[in-house]
Amino acid sequence: MIILGASGNIAKHVIDILVNKDEINLTLFLRNARRLANHDVSKCRIIEGNALNFDQLKEAINGQDIVYANLAGDLEAMAKNIVKAMDETGVKKIIFISSIGIYDTPLRPVLIPYRKAADVIEASDLEYTILRPTWFISANEVDYETTRKGEPEKGSVISQKSLATLITRIIESPEKYTRENLGVNKPNS
Ligand SMILES: NC(=O)c1ccc[n+]([C@@H]2O[C@H](COP(=O)([O-])OP(=O)(O)OC[C@H]3O[C@@H](n4cnc5c(N)ncnc54)[C@H](OP(=O)(O)O)[C@@H]3O)[C@@H](O)[C@H]2O)c1
Repeated sequence: MIILGASGNIAKHVIDILVNKDEINLTLFLRNARRLANHDVSKCRIIEGNALNFDQLKEAINGQDIVYANLAGDLEAMAKNIVKAMDETGVKKIIFISSIGIYDTPLRPVLIPYRKAADVIEASDLEYTILRPTWFISANEVDYETTRKGEPEKGSVISQKSLATLITRIIESPEKYTRENLGVNKPNS
């Protein structure tokens, strides 16, 4: 599998969990390998590339089984590139991190790229799981619940470790979460 935006905060937690799982063959895609925050990436393949560069992305995605996108910035353009690259290479499973609040009206301007990216992924034929986490906290705890699309989003915070744990569970049982778009929060927060 491949992690796009592997230098990101949540990606770091996911990598820390996945490097201990022998059955997972991990490729890390990021703009600058020196920004990798993990201590042990000796078993990972590392590719320097830009998610806005279609050719770099397609080459990296080719042959993967799962794509996990932990990106920020021009997410709509990135989502379009990812869907095209996956379509052309026959890769089906994507986990895409968006944000809480993307279905609110009025939509907060800062969330427009997150909403547009989710729309692009949902309009694809891919086996997607879109996650809409609440605000991150660094608490060393795993405590989360999910809401489905159309249900009111709950809570106000989620620990980074909780979100990383959910992402790892999706990677291990992708069929359970296919074509789901889930809010993620700490219960009673
Ligand atoms: N903070 C919160 O409370 C919160 C709540 C809900 C959702 N979110 C969203 O959840 C997502 C994941 O969060 P996070 O904290 O892990 O984000 P993050 O640390 O900002 O990671 C995003 C990654 O995207 C990479 N990136 C940006 N442009 C790229 C490009 N053109 N090509 C390749 N990589 C690129 C960055 O890599 P570089 O090292 O190259 O810059 C960065 O490592 C983000 O979109 C975030 O906004 C955050």
